[in-house]
Amino acid sequence: MRSLLFVPGDSPKKLDKGMASGADALIVDLEDSVAAAGKAGARQTTLAFLKEAATARARPRLLVRVNSLDTGLTDDDLDAVVAGRPDAIMLPKAEGGALVMHADAKLAVHEAVHDLPENSVGIVAIATETAASLFLAGTYRGASRRLQGLTWGAEDLSADLGAEANRDRDGRFLDPYRLARALCITGAASAGVPAIDTVYVDFRNEDGLRRECEEARRDGFTGKMAIHPAQVAAINAVFTPAPEAIAHAQRVVDAFAATPGAGVVGIEGVMYDRPHLMRAQALLARAKAAGLIGQ
Ligand code: COA
Ligand code: MG
Repeated sequence: MRSLLFVPGDSPKKLDKGMASGADALIVDLEDSVAAAGKAGARQTTLAFLKEAATARARPRLLVRVNSLDTGLTDDDLDAVVAGRPDAIMLPKAEGGALVMHADAKLAVHEAVHDLPENSVGIVAIATETAASLFLAGTYRGASRRLQGLTWGAEDLSADLGAEANRDRDGRFLDPYRLARALCITGAASAGVPAIDTVYVDFRNEDGLRRECEEARRDGFTGKMAIHPAQVAAINAVFTPAPEAIAHAQRVVDAFAATPGAGVVGIEGVMYDRPHLMRAQALLARAKAAGLIGQ
């Protein structure tokens, strides 16, 4: 998943627009973008949308961001939406693997009630929205087979820290948020799932978005969340492996295949060893997932 577009779960118009946005995934939101009085209506709108979208021939992956476990609203969210068989739920304010296990158990019950195969609904966790969560970012490994990715958030974290801002005047994240971002990347790698970069809220600023996407790709993120359809094309472009990168990765993989048992190879005067091979294999896997090279 390169691009994951947030769509408020109470807006049929935006849900339709999201389907046509070109995003790899939609995150239908029942949490922060829906006011308390609108939650019940948003659940029904979301369920109707999921059911209709399920019949579409080609569709993005469909995630539903439920309300966090500490709100007491999560069960009502799941009661309503699991019947629509979302590909995954997004779990906000996740505080480590223990909370993912908690959500996993809830999903197992709802899958049974709706006769869905076990583990058919995945979990993507937002791993850095509270101060406490930063100290638990290393606990996702092995928590649940449902875990499909980790992402991070700076808005709720800045509220929890009592900070006035989370970015400097040039739009770059300040220290606590750079720490959260790094913990997302490392926590995801240690759990063996993709790391997905947070939203860029300044949605008319395409240069700023592109810069943040490129820095995210450089550092190991494989996708980014969006809040506006206009952000999807830039995100997809940056996170789609470039032809030169694919060709280079293929050369590295071929060089190792041509010398079985070698721990290190030289290509055009440059040394490549195991970490380079693993990086090349991961890039080719992403190129395959994007349909750029054969299976
Ligand atoms: N998904 C689908 N469609 C969207 C969209 C989104 N996230 N954001 C905007 N659109 C639609 C608008 O409805 C509008 O449609 P129209 O031309 O038919 O009227 C069109 O795209 C252009 O929107 P624009 O006028 O540029 O923005 P806006 O002022 O209507 O909306 C936001 C701005 C921020 C309210 C909107 O982008 C949004 O709701 N984003 C998602 C917020 C969210 O889910 N936040 C939670 C996670 S942080
Ligand atoms: Mg939030």
